[in-house]
Amino acid sequence: MADVSNLKRRILTGDRPTGKLHLGHYAGSLLNRVRLQDDYETYILLADVQALTTHFQSPQLIRDSIFEVAIDNLSVGLDPEKATFIQQSQVPAIAELTVLFSLLVPVNVLRHNPTIKTEARQYGYTDLTYGFLGYPVSQAADIVFLEADLVPVGDDQLPHMELTKKIVRRINELYHAGLKEPMELLSPVPRLKGLDGGAKMGKSAGNAVFLSDDEALLERKIAAAKTDTARIRKTDPGHPEICTIYAYHRAFNDSSCPEICESCTKGTIGCRDCKQLLAARLNGILAPVREKRRYYEQHTDLVRDIIVTGTETANRIGNDTVMKIKEAMSLSL
Ligand code: TRP
Repeated sequence: MADVSNLKRRILTGDRPTGKLHLGHYAGSLLNRVRLQDDYETYILLADVQALTTHFQSPQLIRDSIFEVAIDNLSVGLDPEKATFIQQSQVPAIAELTVLFSLLVPVNVLRHNPTIKTEARQYGYTDLTYGFLGYPVSQAADIVFLEADLVPVGDDQLPHMELTKKIVRRINELYHAGLKEPMELLSPVPRLKGLDGGAKMGKSAGNAVFLSDDEALLERKIAAAKTDTARIRKTDPGHPEICTIYAYHRAFNDSSCPEICESCTKGTIGCRDCKQLLAARLNGILAPVREKRRYYEQHTDLVRDIIVTGTETANRIGNDTVMKIKEAMSLSL
């Protein structure tokens, strides 16, 4: 009888290790990964080379963040028995495929990539490095080396998915390589706002609640978050639809939302109480996460093992893929 585990479809998703993960990652991608790991062969790429495209001056930060991000993933419930963790820089197949794929990608396609443009603006780049401009090509290699079926991503990654599919089609057309075309799996939840009311909770924007924050810090951050600025006294009618705290209630405390919405609109609950409700709920959600984190923080050798073993598995798969593509491209004697 066929081994059913071999028939499971493969998921690959990645994080740039440039800092610790926060509640936005939790709601937007981590929870989804935890659900998916039961039904798919799950691979999590710690994209350290991609992180260096913007943080090449901080290699130590990247190195520390590899552990942080792996522990963030493990502490929310990714199970090392089900999910394979990969350190990108230790997979030569990705570097090799990046070079081969780069033959087929016009520079202007990269220059017009909307995510590259946005990030270049965010980082204030006027003159882009070859590595930064080309990271979407390397991201295609991340996905193809593993022959992933599905790639869970946020909408900012869609241009990279389009490029990946184009590269795969082109390689199949030109060289009959028979590569699998991957599909994106768009995150089911909208982006979480920052504590400052900004459009996005960000790793380095100073507006995030990190998964590694303790209870007291979480309470302080929530207490200082921006709410409906038109509301000065408790009895002033509030506008939940524009309030960051209410957006968090929606994301993490949905069943209490009708009641909170009503009492805010009527001016019967104050922002302080509303924030305390939220902080208590978040601390409840994070209690088991913090417990797991403590375990892994005390067993960093185990975390290292998980990454090293996972990377070995990735290399076995990657070497086969590279051989297949090189043969198709007549790069063997
Ligand atoms: N670019 C992704 C991000 O910034 C990280 C990433 C790297 C990734 N390689 C990937 C995501 C491969 C999906 C698949 O979040």
